[in-house]
Amino acid sequence: MDVYEFAKSLIRDAGDFIETRRLEGFEVMRKTGPHDLVTPVDKETEEFIYKRIKAQFPEHNIVGEETYGKDVKTLKGFTWIVDPIDGTVNFINQNDNFAISVGIYKDEEPYCGFVYDVANKVLYHSKVGEGAYRNSEKIKEVDYQPLDDTIVGVSHKWLLKDDVRQFFIELVDKARSVRNRGSAALDFTSVADGKYGAVVFYELFPWDYAGGRILTNELGLKCVTLTGEDVPELEASSVVCGHEKLVDEILEIFDHESFKEVHDKFFIK
Ligand code: IPD
Ligand code: CA
Ligand code: CA
Repeated sequence: MDVYEFAKSLIRDAGDFIETRRLEGFEVMRKTGPHDLVTPVDKETEEFIYKRIKAQFPEHNIVGEETYGKDVKTLKGFTWIVDPIDGTVNFINQNDNFAISVGIYKDEEPYCGFVYDVANKVLYHSKVGEGAYRNSEKIKEVDYQPLDDTIVGVSHKWLLKDDVRQFFIELVDKARSVRNRGSAALDFTSVADGKYGAVVFYELFPWDYAGGRILTNELGLKCVTLTGEDVPELEASSVVCGHEKLVDEILEIFDHESFKEVHDKFFIK
């Protein structure tokens, strides 16, 4: 069976599963603190996706946020990187603005990417070399907009970090405006939709960006760390993604020795 077609149908079914479970009610648990929440629906959805993949493709590897694949260290064969619910706080508080994010790698190369806006039933998907789609509609190339004419999606974690705050303040000051949807995966779709020129995240995990990165890459967009390096596939990283010219403008803001030092201390293991 074709992996891309299988994934599209599985992700839509997983969205229906989340919707059914949401209506049944669920508990809310803290992971590391009051901002880091998880529900049984996050875990059950990962389980739902894992079992369906393994039933069809037993040899595929799965790296999920909640349970599976902590031992996966390479992308040999097929590897699925899955966030069963990206935007859990929105899922709990808003019943909207959350997504299923899936990136599939084949022999260490990106193969296809998906972000499913569950509440609105919009599946963003792409297979490398075959274009990017919003449901069945082909997504157009994204035009360059200079920083002072565009909206940038920015997650708020930088506010809590003294060493990097000044650089983000400069970004907020230079951009037309900034937004935070509360789901990194959906932030990537806002770039694909041309609503944001770029997204900038200080700290993301592979399951937060795998789907969005493969999707936006298909639109010719650039995705690198805030120090201009390649984003790793299986490690936490900073991420900036958008039109190449705009990403370069943003990278200039962060191009300081003091930022590089704190960034490297934080991310280089
Ligand atoms: C979070 C969301 C959020 C981002 C956080 C992520 P989760 O994922 O993507 O937008 O700012 O860094 O952890 O926990 O809802 O899957
Ligand atoms: Ca996430
Ligand atoms: Ca999640």
